Amino acid sequence: MTTQPKQEWFTVALNLVKEAGKVVRAAINKKKNIEIKSSAVDLVTESDKAVEKMLITGLSETFPDHKFIGEESVAGGEKCVLTSEPTWIIDPIDGTMNFVHSFPYTCISVGLWVDKKAEIGIVYNPILEQMFTATKGEGAYLNGERIHTSGQTELNQALVFAEMGTSHDPVKVDTVLTNLTTLMTKVHGIRAMGSCALNICQLATGGVDICYEYGVHAWDMAAASLLVTEAGGVVVDTEGGEFDLMRRRVLCAATPELAAKIAPLLKQYQPEPDGVCN
Ligand code: IPD
Repeated sequence: MTTQPKQEWFTVALNLVKEAGKVVRAAINKKKNIEIKSSAVDLVTESDKAVEKMLITGLSETFPDHKFIGEESVAGGEKCVLTSEPTWIIDPIDGTMNFVHSFPYTCISVGLWVDKKAEIGIVYNPILEQMFTATKGEGAYLNGERIHTSGQTELNQALVFAEMGTSHDPVKVDTVLTNLTTLMTKVHGIRAMGSCALNICQLATGGVDICYEYGVHAWDMAAASLLVTEAGGVVVDTEGGEFDLMRRRVLCAATPELAAKIAPLLKQYQPEPDGVCN
């Protein structure tokens, strides 16, 4: 285990994320080179690749012993394995579909996990200038101001983020639609904005009360999940049990009461976990 202090990890990562933000900001309104990955709506651009390279190069120069899980490195064939070693888990552009459309709900997400637990979470929307940060045990912040979940416990008062995801597997599509049908008359409102990491961060600010998704990856959740727990919320499996970063499903809620109320209502879906075939 490294002896480098958490503060140094945080400062180095924060500065790199701010630099990477300039790349995203410069590119968002320009024409992009778009490639298709697992489905016609799972996209990657040259900016995703440039940002990931910039972050991994910068972090590995300062922390040569640290490991990495990066969305585009995994798409390029690298293994997606989480060990106890300090591991930076990176989504260079979360909400790539939004980025492609110049829709400003997109972010850079960088989490550091040590002993398979989140230690640092940084999620940055450089277009709207929203910097979400958390270090374990020290609270969650938006642009330096402390944030908290809403404290909501009632389902019929809850605003819910429910994403479609990028898989068109018919079983997954049925799961998404069934859950929308079930929840529509039971909750205050349902939203989908197209960035898992930013959705989860909105929950940390108290702006939404529940956020769930099937088919997400470790890099979508690694940083933002720490924001939620540091803001007083809960992060669990969609069935309500212990959260597993590699299991590709997540339920975040403002309170444990709310998580316990929604979990039994959800039709469940289990995608191939991260690390099994990648
Ligand atoms: C995607 C976004 C989207 C979510 C997908 C993710 P990407 O990440 O977070 O909102 O529904 O499940 O894969 O591909 O833009 O990094």
